[in-house]
Amino acid sequence: SRPPSIEILGGTYPTDETTNITPSIISKLPERLYSRPGHPIHILKSLIESHFNQHGAPSTFHCPSADSFSPLVTPKQNFDDLSFPSDHPGRSLQDSYYVNRDLLLRTHTSAHEVELFASGHNSWLFTSDVYRRDEIDASHYPVFHQMEGASVFSTNVTGMKDLVDNIEYTRYATDQKDLEIEDLTVINDENPYQLDHDPEQVDLVIESLKLSINGLLLKLFRDAAGVSRADPLRVRWIPAYFPFTTPSYEVEVFFNGKWLEILGCGVVQDATLQHANVKNKLGWAFGLGLERIAMILTSIPDIRLFWSKDHRFLSQFSSGNLTKFQPYSKYPACYKDLSFWLPGPTVEHNDVFDLVRDCAGDLVENVELIDDFIHPKNQKRSLCFRINYRSMDRSLSNEEVNEIHTRVASLSKDRLGVEIR
Ligand code: PHE
Repeated sequence: SRPPSIEILGGTYPTDETTNITPSIISKLPERLYSRPGHPIHILKSLIESHFNQHGAPSTFHCPSADSFSPLVTPKQNFDDLSFPSDHPGRSLQDSYYVNRDLLLRTHTSAHEVELFASGHNSWLFTSDVYRRDEIDASHYPVFHQMEGASVFSTNVTGMKDLVDNIEYTRYATDQKDLEIEDLTVINDENPYQLDHDPEQVDLVIESLKLSINGLLLKLFRDAAGVSRADPLRVRWIPAYFPFTTPSYEVEVFFNGKWLEILGCGVVQDATLQHANVKNKLGWAFGLGLERIAMILTSIPDIRLFWSKDHRFLSQFSSGNLTKFQPYSKYPACYKDLSFWLPGPTVEHNDVFDLVRDCAGDLVENVELIDDFIHPKNQKRSLCFRINYRSMDRSLSNEEVNEIHTRVASLSKDRLGVEIR
């Protein structure tokens, strides 16, 4: 029984059989963490913007505010214009939040690439909230922040001269001795040049991309992280696939003894630029997740903290500095199991996770499937999810947790048609 329409950010939208956006997601839309000075997301955004405007290229990077870009986008913006095949899993109701079949919450900042390229700026950086249905644990949250960056060059003599200048400039800014690069990328059928591109020009674009990204990683993981200059920073370039870039790459950094995936990037698909009516240009784009990098640099242990209004969190950060987070005592956790008989063969786990968030908000720390059992006599299937409740800011009373858990059980009956055990 869905309502005929829903209110989102002051607008009224018709619902349909695809509607799966939830109240707890709608409540996050007005938060605008990216625009709050002193919030770690804003601090990291500003740090990267000023890095690119000092060292990125001779040209400046246009950095428009996400306030003038609605988080509600069409499947055309989020997928079609970016050359996503029609059967790509990202389009599914299981992975994305739909208002109705014609409108969804952007799943990545790439959803605005066409508008940004069409604005006429050759280089830009764009940061916003993005939305994906996912599991519940300390590093996954259905809302997070991405930064998208791009730079395009004219495919004529002056354009190519700008590109070469850009490379010289970033090469100078990126002291190669501070970096140890493992480049595992090759151009081949799996990760090809684009048909209409001149390989000689593309190679220059790729070189500009690599220098720009390597320079950024040095800034973040050596300077901002306060790591000594004694040891080189290890960076690894790996072939990747994105529908909207080719060739495409994933970049990893070796930090605190581990390889960490930091970003995706590549040479912008000509189709994207054509949709933006940009002619005779080619360039690169990258996209990175801000929470992940901020958590690494500040040692913030749980992604829910970014949404905390507690001054013990917020007062620890100030503009310009990504300092180490001093944990305030972790409050006790309390877990409760939710077991039920399924009405049919299966239930989508993401549907369970969303309803838990609707009842518990940020009081849920993680949810884990601990039992999956088929009754030998009647073939009925039972699942058991262990829900770990914990507040980042205070101790929860037993009563409060029981009350939330009762709501979780009754909403499971209503939304999923399951029978609680
Ligand atoms: N949009 C991609 C993601 O969300 C990242 C990306 C951006 C990759 C731009 C290539 C170019 O994973």
